[in-house]
Amino acid sequence: MISSLERLVEKLPFYECDKQVDAAMIFSETNRMYFSGFKSSDGIILLTRNECYFFVDFRYYEAAFNKVKNMEVVLASDFKSELLKIIKKHNIKNILLECNGLTLAESLKFEKLIESENVSFIKSNILDDIISSIRSIKEKNELENIKVAQEISEKALNELMSILKPGMSEKEIAFNLEFLLRKKGAQSIAFDLIVASGKNSSMPHATPTDKRLEIGDFVTIDMGAVYNGYCSDMTRTVALGKISEKQRSVYNLVLAAQNKAIQSIKSGVLCKKIDKIARNFIYENGYEGCFGHALGHGVGLEIHEGPFLSTRSEDVLKSGMVVTIEPGIYLKNEFGVRIEDMIVVTEQGCQNLTFANKELIVL
Ligand code: GLY
Ligand code: MN
Repeated sequence: MISSLERLVEKLPFYECDKQVDAAMIFSETNRMYFSGFKSSDGIILLTRNECYFFVDFRYYEAAFNKVKNMEVVLASDFKSELLKIIKKHNIKNILLECNGLTLAESLKFEKLIESENVSFIKSNILDDIISSIRSIKEKNELENIKVAQEISEKALNELMSILKPGMSEKEIAFNLEFLLRKKGAQSIAFDLIVASGKNSSMPHATPTDKRLEIGDFVTIDMGAVYNGYCSDMTRTVALGKISEKQRSVYNLVLAAQNKAIQSIKSGVLCKKIDKIARNFIYENGYEGCFGHALGHGVGLEIHEGPFLSTRSEDVLKSGMVVTIEPGIYLKNEFGVRIEDMIVVTEQGCQNLTFANKELIVL
């Protein structure tokens, strides 16, 4: 078994819960990939106390059989009969379900499959929470992949900076950036790239438009690459030509808020405390209500995963977590600024994985 699967088995409440858990079922594409190392659009993992099965259909069977070494790969042409065989073999009565990866329609379908058997599904968030907490702490190879994804992103941003000029449209920049990310080695982009200029930059998740860059604009570029399945995430806001004192002061406030938050990161600190440090600083400096999203989130196989650094989060930072710190100030009909770095939490503090310049750049 690869170590992530061992960590899951260790934490599964096989002997606890109100009902005894005999097995667990994992559906979501990301969690299947995380535990098996195999990417497929379909499939199910069934974990019992002693065995782990990976059901795939004909499309994936040969590839999965060759790649997956920590589970028994089962060709599920007839999923029901394969599932019932394993249920009987291990005398399974209660199966804990991963809920995030399962729609209500699918859950009804599975219930129908086992209706004649003396088996029940436990529908709760227990499994999702356990997996999320395992995934939030990155293993060495995961960290390496995230670092490479970030290096790719920075190379692409560097090259983009040399071509960015007034007259280019936001869509044109986003298109060029995606091309550069792929050219530098990204397997794909981590999310729809955000390029927002001038007044559009007051919308944190603006979609690139035909608006052309003008002198005096801020341009917010939020970008990420995927490498070996792992994402990176970074935002930079740059200025074009001459900008106002207000723009300069807002930029420096966001940067100072980010630095204060980063300096407070270390293992054991509550995520909401870090959010509060950045948020209070922004609010106390005259911009209450202008920072309306969370301070950050974990990054890994998914662009947004645990832990979450928000006002209400109960998550606690732990060594090995990779999180973003992305404060912003958004002024409707004027402009917006966001600066985002990706950070690894350590016992004593943290290590910043983002090296791109974040002093105010005026192109
Ligand atoms: N970088 C996109 C996001 O964090 O939502
Ligand atoms: Mn982000």
